Amino acid sequence: MITCETLVYQPFQQAESGLHCDGVSVQSIVEKVGTPVYLYSARAIREGYSAIDDAFAAYPHAIHYALKANSTLAIARLLKALGSRADANSGGEVAVAMRAGFATGEIVFTGVGKTREELEFAVAQGVGTINAESAGELDRIGEVARALGREARVALRVNPDIDARSHPNISTGLKTNKFGVALQDARAIYAAHLGTKGLRLAGVHIHIGSQITTAEPLRRAADALVSLALELRDAGVPLEHVDLGGGLGIAYEGQQVLSAAEYAAAVIPELQRAGIPVVLEPGRAIVARSGALVSRVVDTKRYPDGRQFAVLDAGMTELMRPALYGSFHRIVPVVTRSSPEAAWDIVGPICESSDVFGRDRAMPGVEVDDLIAILDTGAYGAVMASNYNRRMLAPEVLIDGGAWRVIRRRQTLDDVLALES
Ligand code: LLP
Repeated sequence: MITCETLVYQPFQQAESGLHCDGVSVQSIVEKVGTPVYLYSARAIREGYSAIDDAFAAYPHAIHYALKANSTLAIARLLKALGSRADANSGGEVAVAMRAGFATGEIVFTGVGKTREELEFAVAQGVGTINAESAGELDRIGEVARALGREARVALRVNPDIDARSHPNISTGLKTNKFGVALQDARAIYAAHLGTKGLRLAGVHIHIGSQITTAEPLRRAADALVSLALELRDAGVPLEHVDLGGGLGIAYEGQQVLSAAEYAAAVIPELQRAGIPVVLEPGRAIVARSGALVSRVVDTKRYPDGRQFAVLDAGMTELMRPALYGSFHRIVPVVTRSSPEAAWDIVGPICESSDVFGRDRAMPGVEVDDLIAILDTGAYGAVMASNYNRRMLAPEVLIDGGAWRVIRRRQTLDDVLALES
């Protein structure tokens, strides 16, 4: 069956001379920049953004790209140029959004546990909406706003106790999760804060998780959000938007998943019950497919029972998702050998047994110095990297219209040690 998902643009394609990204040879980039390196296709990002924007064309909406997925300045600027707004999850992301050119009014500031300094910064800068996580945080935002002589536009994040049917580590809408306030407490919290000087109760916010691949949890979240918004409006809260969060998943394993159009078709009828403009906070669905982590094989070995390992120069320090969530990423050779396929464990060089990118992957022969690409790593890849084992952050390259440029250079030991005495 052809689904919208199978028609999604795939930027990394095998050509006769090896893997290409938007017509540019991956090997030719790696020869100049080295490995490990993140490559991103600008075209895939544009298409990821438009798929969502087009799907919601029939309903008043604003896309606030979730910077946490990938906030490298050039990527943030690309999204800004497409007309996106921003979802920031820390004071740092608010500041990066501003440097990327987003107007402060275009930024929503979300996140459990915002510090007083972060709240002061956000209110002083005039951030568009602060998504508050508790009644106490609403109080603190009010205090900060009054002290600064400002009015902060806020939304309260509600936790609807809905199972997103995703990985438990990235599900956020269950009552066992730390996020938001219980749905049944929301009305009383809005009532208690209505008319509070310094606070403008402008919205309601929900985000039930990430990598959601079926419509029903998202439809139920929209239903819960809209039902609450209608009650609040009847109670005199002058709501200006509802915020449905992010969460739309992608087909990491090529399986059939919810498309942007199916997502919109599931939630728009719910939104229409209130007719209030919607804010969306997609991250992964916009950037995940655009990226590949390209790495070089540094060692191979074979155990007596036949298990074969290919050890890469990238590990969980560059891409943490497999180690943290057991998540699947397609792994492909940059230049395919003609030897018959065999099963390989593709692993990193870090001194952790969880530093494995894939087990029993069919690969057509792997030799030292071969290049390997780990696909669909444009979201939650480079942003989650670390310096563990004193490894330097990998560079990032943006490919656009047949040309490419380094958008973040490789980190050096001097960069890292500059912070130490
Ligand atoms: N809005 C809020 C409030 C969020 O917490 C998140 C993601 C998003 C939007 C964007 O969600 P997306 O559309 O990307 O699913 N590191 C994990 C994903 C963590 C997501 C955290 N919150 C991973 O690699 O799968």
